[in-house]
Amino acid sequence: MLSKSKVFITRPIPEEGIALLKKRANVTLRRADSVISRRDLLKGVGKVEGLLSILTDKIDGAVMDAAPNLKVIANYAVGFDNIDVEAATQRGIVVTNTPGVMDEAVAEHALALILAVSRRVVEADHFTRAEKYKAWMPMGFIGPSLRGKTMGIIGMGRIGSTLAQMVHDGLGMNIVYTDFQINKQLEKELGAKKVTMNELLKRADVISVHVPLLPSTTHLIDTAEFKKMKKTAILINTSRGPVVSEKALTRALKSKAILGAGIDVFECEPSIDCDPSDQLELKVLDNVVLTPHIASATNEARIAMSTLAATAILDALSNKKPKTIVNPEVWSRRRR
Ligand code: DGY
Repeated sequence: MLSKSKVFITRPIPEEGIALLKKRANVTLRRADSVISRRDLLKGVGKVEGLLSILTDKIDGAVMDAAPNLKVIANYAVGFDNIDVEAATQRGIVVTNTPGVMDEAVAEHALALILAVSRRVVEADHFTRAEKYKAWMPMGFIGPSLRGKTMGIIGMGRIGSTLAQMVHDGLGMNIVYTDFQINKQLEKELGAKKVTMNELLKRADVISVHVPLLPSTTHLIDTAEFKKMKKTAILINTSRGPVVSEKALTRALKSKAILGAGIDVFECEPSIDCDPSDQLELKVLDNVVLTPHIASATNEARIAMSTLAATAILDALSNKKPKTIVNPEVWSRRRR
């Protein structure tokens, strides 16, 4: 019956995944390259069995109730905090994500931010474009070297481990990390050391966050955590905005309580300022580099994400358990 299954894709993704789906299902692709409105989303899911969503689509119980035939939601992201997984599980709907195909891309972007902040690349670029470069400056744009310094990784999963490897092998940094489990392989190969959060915050010269957004990780980095960091610390966030308190971050950067930050995700995304009335704006500060949630934006990662999401839909619709199911408990009592 798969050839008759209807699949809705809420926004253009790389063609590879779409082509895979088109071979075996009846695909409706919303062509507008913008966030789908709630109205269009509710209408779009009406008759479908499969939904390929992106992280800006809020897929809650109401969306699921508007889709009585919906069997599988494949999120084109590793994070799935935009989906009410519990509501899906209650309704017998399978939810999948795209882990394991963007580890390099995200780690590379975290590395790009580390170097951009430490070597003040964006600030220096603005200076140069403004034709302020008049003569070589013996004291101009000085920043810290990274060799021999300590990298603190909060969340040593696939992406955190990939970054650990990169900064250890490429930059000669020492690694400390927090996680709920010990990563024996990295401890052996890189001499990485699992420490408490307190110790990491105090010891690390660069701190990079790699945890999912959960109630327990919301504002994991807040005023108290910034107070424990070195004045020379650099914070990198490529995970989810609300993991770092925007107010606390902006205060820490403004008061030079830390050296700098590289931020790819925002607490009130896509806004880069949750509260325009509080005089705390990241965008006016020189010691922060901002990018618009692009850490996974490599050709390779995005193509792999599209084919992985498509494969998950095709598997679920042909009664094969998708490899990337996030609510496996639903499988035996899924909608058929
Ligand atoms: C994800 O996959 O969760 C990223 O934030 C976007 O690639």
